[in-house]
Amino acid sequence: MNFTGAHILSIAQFERADIERVFAVADSMQPYALRRRVTRVLEGAILGNMFFEASTRTRISFGCAFNLLGGEVRETTGFASSAISKGESLHDTARVLSGYSDVICMRHPVSGSVKEFAHASRVPVINGGDGENEHPTQALLDLYTIRKEMASHGRDIDGLRIAMIGDLKYGRTVHSLCKLLCLFDNVQLTLVSPGELAMPEAIVEQLRQAGHSVTITEDLPQSIGHVDIAYSTRIQEERFATKDEADLYRGRFRLNQAIYTQYCEPNTVIMHPLPRDSRADANELDNDLDENPNLAIFRQADNGVLVRMALFALVLDVVEQVDKYARDVNWYNSRRKV
Ligand code: NCD
Repeated sequence: MNFTGAHILSIAQFERADIERVFAVADSMQPYALRRRVTRVLEGAILGNMFFEASTRTRISFGCAFNLLGGEVRETTGFASSAISKGESLHDTARVLSGYSDVICMRHPVSGSVKEFAHASRVPVINGGDGENEHPTQALLDLYTIRKEMASHGRDIDGLRIAMIGDLKYGRTVHSLCKLLCLFDNVQLTLVSPGELAMPEAIVEQLRQAGHSVTITEDLPQSIGHVDIAYSTRIQEERFATKDEADLYRGRFRLNQAIYTQYCEPNTVIMHPLPRDSRADANELDNDLDENPNLAIFRQADNGVLVRMALFALVLDVVEQVDKYARDVNWYNSRRKV
């Protein structure tokens, strides 16, 4: 694909070579993300960060990524503080905000809304999650993490064995990740969820069309026994009609160190897009896993900055200039651990 000026709305836009390109650029961002170097390549550029749903990682890491490339960030969060609460359409909001920004990141609770917004925008729009539909940048950072973790075990993405666990119906991260895995070969997927929260049939079909093997189950111990990656997800309570309904499923699939030791192969990597629901009635990934070196969740979150820097550099067509406008930092935070 031609990244320059493109909206990033769905994984369907990408081919395998595009993914390799994003990952190569993300690798090159490491000195900047680690604060060894600073670049001013996007000096004068403004990111409009529009988050109409709760977010910590996605919003802040998009902002940090833009700042690390030398740009400025302007934000609105929630509907209450936006003119959308006065009845303004997405179209008008997009027309206006795209006059103030060079690129826009947007999260919205309605599937397809970011695409609708992008149609009216005069600048590139990046989907930070549209309802239960997609979360393409999360899928990219997840696969980037998988690639790195697997490389340290001498493995590749092709031939990967991965279990996805939890709310696979409403979890947009797993929807996008499955679509992304369709660009690779011979992946064995085990989809673990309550029957009511199963992966949408169209996505399962897409995986099978791509030649992958798909097993659908409600049995957590059996499904995590022979996988390279156990990818856990949160029950997406904001998508249920009532909290009571979400409560029916919360805590159904818990992973802790004892379960890991009993059932998983020794090097199984544990992932989660975060936030993990650590309330007692959920506790989907127990804190006692925090010392487990295969718990990749915080490396995964760190990788979000690299991948989002790469996307900004590609969309704004400055990849070749990042180093030209760079220098070493004047300071070094020796407490910052990799
Ligand atoms: C995810 C999301 O918002 O879809 N969070 C994130 O962006 N890392 C997953 C979730 O909220 O459960």
